[in-house]
Amino acid sequence: MRRAEQLNETAVVEFIILSFQSIPAIQFILFLMFLVIYISTMLGNLLIMVLVVTNQHLHKPMFFFLGNLSFLETCYTSAILPRLLASFLTNKYVISLNDCFLQYFFFTGLAGAECCLLAAMSYDRYIAICKPLHYTAIMDGRCCLLLVGGSWLNGLLASAIVTSLMPQLTFCGPNEIDHFFCDFTPVVKLSCSDTHWIELVEFILAFLFTLPPFLLTLVSYAYIGNTVLRIPSSTGRHKAFSTCSSHLTVVTLFYGTLIVVYLVPQTNTLGYLHKAFSVCYTALTPLVNPLIYSLRNNNIKKALRTAVNKYRGFDKA
Ligand SMILES: *[C@@H]1O[C@H](CO)[C@@H](O)[C@H](O)[C@H]1NC(C)=O
Repeated sequence: MRRAEQLNETAVVEFIILSFQSIPAIQFILFLMFLVIYISTMLGNLLIMVLVVTNQHLHKPMFFFLGNLSFLETCYTSAILPRLLASFLTNKYVISLNDCFLQYFFFTGLAGAECCLLAAMSYDRYIAICKPLHYTAIMDGRCCLLLVGGSWLNGLLASAIVTSLMPQLTFCGPNEIDHFFCDFTPVVKLSCSDTHWIELVEFILAFLFTLPPFLLTLVSYAYIGNTVLRIPSSTGRHKAFSTCSSHLTVVTLFYGTLIVVYLVPQTNTLGYLHKAFSVCYTALTPLVNPLIYSLRNNNIKKALRTAVNKYRGFDKA
């Protein structure tokens, strides 16, 4: 009996990621869709990074944060999409336990870092709008570096703690993950060990590491809203708010999809919806962020125009 149990316990050495195989008819369309999304995400975010680094007018805290957000998002989609694309092409859906945990580590760590970075960006807007006279004194290079570094550290640290507990789980089969990447719930659900403690740790860490940045973001915008509404002229109001409206859009999109995916209970009838929303925050948010910023931010538009003109100039010479 004991021997059989042991055999069983070592049975699972790899997972199968079911992905979207249950709808074979649209495999190719899905592949194309994810390919286009991935390439556009990389190009859009890369463009923003290049603009921020090369354009002197964008050497300001707000754009440093934006450049860093773009960098974070290229990493974030790269934790999931290349592997997904490869599985469409090769028809191989197996993933070793370690690769699965590693994917979870990077994805969750980067999502956590994004929460913190979005909070840092709202704080930056809060200082700029509510304490304009102190802005340059507070948001100096050191403060920017601290906020950016702190965001990365925070996210990756929280994720490392949960990931380090995962190899202690036992998996005795079945080994099919009904998702398109290794997320916490679908993986833990497959374990035959007692998973209460790891779920508790995950819950506490998610609470500690995403609620404070979320609240900080909310509070910053409450103060910003309050200040902006008290500006007497409507053009002044519009001007003050326009510097943070794109950021607010990005924040709403990110937290909105995150809340739907993780707080709405995962029942079977909502399974497809759950996957669809997961596609939103893993693939679509990083794609639309550069679009939102470049379409709505005049400084970015100007920088882009300058870059294009410079390139044309080189062309003629
Ligand atoms: C990221 O932030 C740092 C510190 O503020 C800045 O020096 C760097 O240029 C930023 N990177 C990008 C790609 O914007």
